[in-house]
Order: sequence, then C-alpha cells, then structure tokens
Amino acid sequence: KKETIILGIETSCDETAAAVIQGGSTILSSIISSQMESHKRFGGVVPEIASRHHVEQITLIVEEAMEKAEVTFEDIDAVAVTEGPGLVGALLVGVNAAKAIAFAHDLPVIGVHHIAGHIYANHLVKPLEFPLMTLVVSGGHTELIYMKEHGQYELIGETRDDAVGEAYDKVARTIGLPYPGGPRVDKLAQTGEADIDFPRAWLEEDSFDFSFSGLKSAVINTLHNARQKDTEIAPEVIAASFQEAVSDVLVTKTMRAVKKYGADRLLLAGGVAANSGLRGALQEAADREGIQLTIPPLSLCTDNAAMIACAGHFLYEKGQFADDRLNGVPGLAL
Ligand code: KG4
Ligand code: ZN
Repeated sequence: KKETIILGIETSCDETAAAVIQGGSTILSSIISSQMESHKRFGGVVPEIASRHHVEQITLIVEEAMEKAEVTFEDIDAVAVTEGPGLVGALLVGVNAAKAIAFAHDLPVIGVHHIAGHIYANHLVKPLEFPLMTLVVSGGHTELIYMKEHGQYELIGETRDDAVGEAYDKVARTIGLPYPGGPRVDKLAQTGEADIDFPRAWLEEDSFDFSFSGLKSAVINTLHNARQKDTEIAPEVIAASFQEAVSDVLVTKTMRAVKKYGADRLLLAGGVAANSGLRGALQEAADREGIQLTIPPLSLCTDNAAMIACAGHFLYEKGQFADDRLNGVPGLAL
C-alpha cells in the first residue's frame, strides 16, 4: 500500500506556508513566505496587510510546494489546513484555498489546530511516544500539554497574562530592537551576563500556570528608571537577565510537570522553542533527570506547513475530516 501523502497549508499569522509530507513524517517539500518586512515598520503584525499578502501568495506557494515535492494532485490523499487560532482574515485565506483545492480535485479536507501543528513538528524529528509532556511557547501561547495518545490534549497549565513570545516582543521594543523582537533579544542575551535578579512568578505551589506580565513590567521599569537617572544599563545585561528569568520558570515548572505526570518524553514546541537560552536550559534539566527531550530544528519551530500536514496525517488516519462548513476560528480551543 502506498504511503499517505498530505498537502498542508498554514496562514494563521504572518507566514504563508505550504508543505507536502509522506507517511506522516517525510517532508517532500516545505515552502514558507514570510511577510516580516511588510509588518516591520508598524512594529507588529497588521491583520489587513497579513490577509492581503496571504491572498497574493497562497496559490504560488502551494504550486511551489507541489513542484518541489514532485507530486501532482493525483498523488495527494488529503489537504490539511490550519483552522485556528489566529487572525481571522488570515485563516480564511488558507481555509478557502484548501476547500477550493479539495473541491477541484475531489479530496478530503482536514482542519488542524495551530498548536497541535507546533506539537507535531516534533514528530517530524522523532516519532512521538506516549505519555508525553509538551511545553508550548509562542507569540500567543504558553502552555503545558499532556498527551496520552495521538490527538488527545490535556491542558495542565497556561499563562494567566502574557505569552512568552509576547513578553519577548514587548521587552525588545523597550530596548529599542525592531520587530520581531524575540530572536533579537535572544541574540543580545548571548553576549551579556545575567546580573539583574528579575522577579519570577511561581504562583501557587502546585500550580502549572505561568505569569510573565510582572517580569515584563520589571524589565520595562528598570530601563525607564535608568533612563530617567541618565544612567546606563547595558542592554545585553537586561536581555540576558530577562532570558534567564524566563527559562528558569519555564524549565522548573516543566520538569515538575514531567515528574508529576510520569511522562516518558518531553517536547518543546512553538516559535519561542527557537530560543537559545530555553533550549539549553531545558536540555540540561532533561539530561540531569534522564528524560528524553525533543526540540525541533529552528526551521520547524516557527510557523510552517509541514507541522500542519503532520498533525493532519494523524487526523487522516482516524478519518477525522472536515465538511464544507470548515471555517477560520480565531479562538479555536485545542
Ligand atoms: O509560533 P510562532 O512563529 O507564531 C505564533 O504562533 O505565535 O511564534 C512567534 C513568536 C514571536 O513572539 C517571536 O518573537 C518568538 O516567537 N520568537 C522568539 C525566538 N524566535 C521566535 N522568542 C525568543 N527567542 C527566539 N529565538
Ligand atoms: Zn505558531
């Protein structure tokens, strides 16, 4: 029997992406068109601009993914698309493209949750084994998710205010770094000493929730106070201290969750999984505890369609197809 081939489409935020994967884990192609340059001068993603770019790019990107994979629509078994969460106008472009392709070629459509996609990016590295714990860290999400099997997600903790990526982007703006700030703060942090003891929000003793708004405010206040007093704090010291405070809380709570739930495997997922401080600290903790940790390569950490096709593959196996009511859902629950 021939291996299943899935076309994946992702347009939830500011990347237009399409990918073709075979047998659930072989990436035949993965094309990403970033709109970053268009949003840069606004200091963040502008929803209307994002939608327009997706409309302009989607057909080309899908064609490119098909060509690079050397497949035709005859070879494709299903189209998997991000149905949410994300920007509604952006999601709709992907959803409608997927529906059009499916209708034209008589293929089933599969709706994929964006965060499920981020989690399944790890399956592209090494097949998932259960039970597992995932730390999801992105621009909109900071969550600990426990999985006993494919497609089943148990939320055991989440941020009560800012997502980690959001905190990174705000700190970056205060330091004066251009959008997107996360990777720039990370780079800066690697050149400084973590000399400032910023606050860590541990919350209740048994809580797996997070809070980053206090830390973010502490960083911003430290910078403002220094400016007012005309004193200079090296930005790399701010960045390094912030990064250490973030990793400290994330790693400590994650390892505690792994132990409490008896997870055999630990995954890191989402755009902030690209962060060098977090990758290093989590790997160190996992090694110390003898826990197997998977972290996707940088190219699979940030938004892409290979991860959507991969998560879609397992929904395909279960026969979980969408009907023609499939829609973009900005606040879709996992
Ligand atoms: O998953 P993603 O590509 O989009 C969302 O679904 O949100 O994550 C984007 C977020 C942004 O906030 C970006 O600043 C952050 O991930 N990010 C990083 C790094 N690379 C991306 N944050 C810290 N360090 C990085 N190296
Ligand atoms: Zn994402």
